[in-house]
Amino acid sequence: MILTVNGEVREAAPRPGQCLRTLLREHGWYGVKKGCDAGDCGACTVHLDGEPVHSCLVPAFRAEGRAITTIEGLAGSCRPGEGLAGSCRPGEGLAGPCRPGEGPPAVLHPMQEAFLAAQGFQCGFCTPGMIMTAAALDQGQRRDLATALKGNLCRCTGYRAIGDAIAGIGHVDRDTDGAADPCGRNLPAPAGAAVVSGTARYTLDVPLEGMLHMKVLRSPHAHARVLRIDRAAALAVPGVVAVLTHDDAPAKRFSTGRHQDPLDDASDTRVLDDVVRFVGQRVAAVVALGEAAAEAGCAALVVDYAVRPAVFDPRAALMPEAPPVHARPGVAAGPHPNLAAEVHGEIGDVAAGFSQADLIHEGTYVSQRVQHAHLETHAAIGWRDAAGRLVIRSSTQVPFLTRDALADLFDLAPEAVRVVCGRVGGGFGGKQEMLTEDLVALAVLATGRPVAWETTREEQFVGATSRHAMRVGVKIGALRDGTLTAIALHVVSDTGAYGNHAGGVIHHGCNEVIGVYRCPNKRVDAYAVHTHTVPAGAFRGYGLSQTVFAVESAMDELARGLGIDPFAMRRLNVVRPGDAMVSTSLAPHDVAYGSYGLDQCLDRVEEALAAMPPAVPPSPDWLTGEGMAMAMIDTIPPRGHVAEASVALTPEGRYALSVGTAEFGNGTTTVLGQIAASALGTTPDRIAIRQADTDAVGHDTGAYGSTGIVVAGQASLRAATALAEAIRAAAAARAGVAAEVCRLGIDAVAVPGGAVALADLARESALVGHGRADGTPRSVAFNVQGFRVAVHRLSGEVRILDSVQAADAGRVMNPMQCRGQIEGGVAQALGAALYEDMRIDDAGAVTTRTLRDYHVPSFADVPRTTVLFADTHDGIGPLGAKSMSESPFNPVAPALANAIRDATGARLTQTPFAPDRIFRAVMAGGSGSRAQRP
Ligand code: FES
Repeated sequence: MILTVNGEVREAAPRPGQCLRTLLREHGWYGVKKGCDAGDCGACTVHLDGEPVHSCLVPAFRAEGRAITTIEGLAGSCRPGEGLAGSCRPGEGLAGPCRPGEGPPAVLHPMQEAFLAAQGFQCGFCTPGMIMTAAALDQGQRRDLATALKGNLCRCTGYRAIGDAIAGIGHVDRDTDGAADPCGRNLPAPAGAAVVSGTARYTLDVPLEGMLHMKVLRSPHAHARVLRIDRAAALAVPGVVAVLTHDDAPAKRFSTGRHQDPLDDASDTRVLDDVVRFVGQRVAAVVALGEAAAEAGCAALVVDYAVRPAVFDPRAALMPEAPPVHARPGVAAGPHPNLAAEVHGEIGDVAAGFSQADLIHEGTYVSQRVQHAHLETHAAIGWRDAAGRLVIRSSTQVPFLTRDALADLFDLAPEAVRVVCGRVGGGFGGKQEMLTEDLVALAVLATGRPVAWETTREEQFVGATSRHAMRVGVKIGALRDGTLTAIALHVVSDTGAYGNHAGGVIHHGCNEVIGVYRCPNKRVDAYAVHTHTVPAGAFRGYGLSQTVFAVESAMDELARGLGIDPFAMRRLNVVRPGDAMVSTSLAPHDVAYGSYGLDQCLDRVEEALAAMPPAVPPSPDWLTGEGMAMAMIDTIPPRGHVAEASVALTPEGRYALSVGTAEFGNGTTTVLGQIAASALGTTPDRIAIRQADTDAVGHDTGAYGSTGIVVAGQASLRAATALAEAIRAAAAARAGVAAEVCRLGIDAVAVPGGAVALADLARESALVGHGRADGTPRSVAFNVQGFRVAVHRLSGEVRILDSVQAADAGRVMNPMQCRGQIEGGVAQALGAALYEDMRIDDAGAVTTRTLRDYHVPSFADVPRTTVLFADTHDGIGPLGAKSMSESPFNPVAPALANAIRDATGARLTQTPFAPDRIFRAVMAGGSGSRAQRP
């Protein structure tokens, strides 16, 4: 057939059943993304004869004779009057459509320009599809974006920046003349033009010609021994090259969870195992010339299982008769084999504290599993380079830790393995796991050929990780005046079949949540429990969102019982500089008040809510209410987080910054450029950044725990400062003056009576600065969330009338970007609080396997959040900055629950707050526990 794409005519031969999306990508139009292949996410949107369509739903052969426009060709499809300043006409002033392999076109479509100006993206994986849909909207449709964008999902932004882009509202500060300090300004993401033009290259956006494709057979059983795998029929499928089973996999065990200290996670997982412990576990892999052959090979595999008993509830899993998930001694810690990790600790005398209390609240709060739902699914490509090294191109937050794990697993020297990222399409902690790279490496080593594996959206739900489901018992006592006397937590966390992040999540989840309260008596008993279900893992907030839901709901109930305003209750009891921050231990630690803005956050949210006009119920059946909650987070994970960086002066008199941390929409690249530019007295556009490549720098623990700015940023600052000193010294030596009198400028170093060009210095000697940060000491950051809601007392529907969050991020390095992180965090948390629920049936199988069933919030579901910042300057973080990407999630669910309680009298103790759950609670006259006089 003849394919006409972006005005270019090509011959194409679609396979039977092939969709337009995959055909376009095979022809190099990588701006056409895959988020679901089910028509739910819109990442694959293209124009067909000018109409936006989800190309995953269009049979490829139906595109014959039609004009196809992809994001790469959008700039060439302007109609008269639509262009910038109205000057765009066909054939005039346009660079023409971008061809595969080329960079961004010289001239962008107005909608691409608008997304750049508003920075209407973070990871940018949804952006090409979003822009294609937005570019086709008429003025009327633009006034109803809730309807117009219902086919396009964004997991990162919270949609406000997208709405602004479509409305033509810009936020980016384009002034790059170097006159002002780049820090603190809304400077644009360096990859912006590539993102909006579809030329940013994500993991699989490279030619796959000549590459083998892998598909995976997954277990239908929650617990079974694999007795036999008959490969014969699979190997007979035309195109199948290899079948890999546990017989081919290393006997060595590892953890998919990656940390600086590998001992943080139990080594309990094999690449392919002869025991399966959850429905969806990998059983065998088929490597073939194409995906279809690999799929057919999987279907032809014959596996005999000996099914074993399974347990799905963590409390049942701790019963003596429960079947052990891991029978090997040493895998599970503690007295019960299903106990993966536990935390116990007490300060003061909790029993005495409760006996002193005038009022006690005791309740149990249940948080469900939620999926990261980053739009780019897990994927990796592997090959051997010219030197024979194993190279893995992966969608990961932790390239260095993955490199180390692969080297260990396959008995290779670390230098014999390279892990490199393209742009990463979202992570939220989900890509702090090694979920694809190990199997791709095995396939490369087994076949000697390049291999690609892209997981499906269904595999994300059944085989990737999720947030830990948690049951948090909380008991808090206070005196009549509100002073806390005792806090006790009892936590049961369902870590699923494997122990990745089991201990880390309960340690972190039980720490800052009570550390933020000044209370002399605290106790924690927490248990991470194995079940025969899909493993949980790192998720935004790392356990805090579940425990903060419990404690902040309880605090609200206690304040109500005492007749104390919820803001006043917090002000009375929160830690202040000088107070010890302790949860369960008085042992010395490395957390300090680098800055403190919790007081400001409380004030700003309270003032913002007070300044809003009174909430007006839509009708008498709607009840209105207001609620708030707060959270503290340590700015860096404990036990070490290392980053190295280097900055070199290039022969052109510009700079090359090399860092290990990955960019997955967190905006680290932008801020690292700002930090380095500030130290070098230059503009960020003069700094080229190479990152997320184990060949780039010495080591970087990874982009998790919100460490991009505070650790990699610190290393970048030190490297840039060292280079600035080296440049001044070189200029001083050349001019015969003291270094102290030399001033570093954009193109030259000013010396008394003249200037020395940077390019000349670079040609004379190699000038490089190196920096390292080890992630200690650590500071604390704060978030306070407020909501006003209306709740329909008959249907249980919740409408958010107002949303405001105040954040203490230290010196805000890029307010536009930081606001986007907070808006995105609130949106993701609203999904978890209201809709999202990974359901697991009685046989242990995940039943929510599509984005449609799961309900990732769309534009219509997310209210605008007013974002406010505390004015602080951190003494620990680089140039006064703190972390701010995970923590905005944490106070959202309790603030919403507290607002619903205020409106209805019903205390919701389980997320998500589905209408039926709210309805039942309201009909019961308020459910859950109330504060009680002892
Ligand atoms: Fe929309 Fe990441 S920017 S999914």
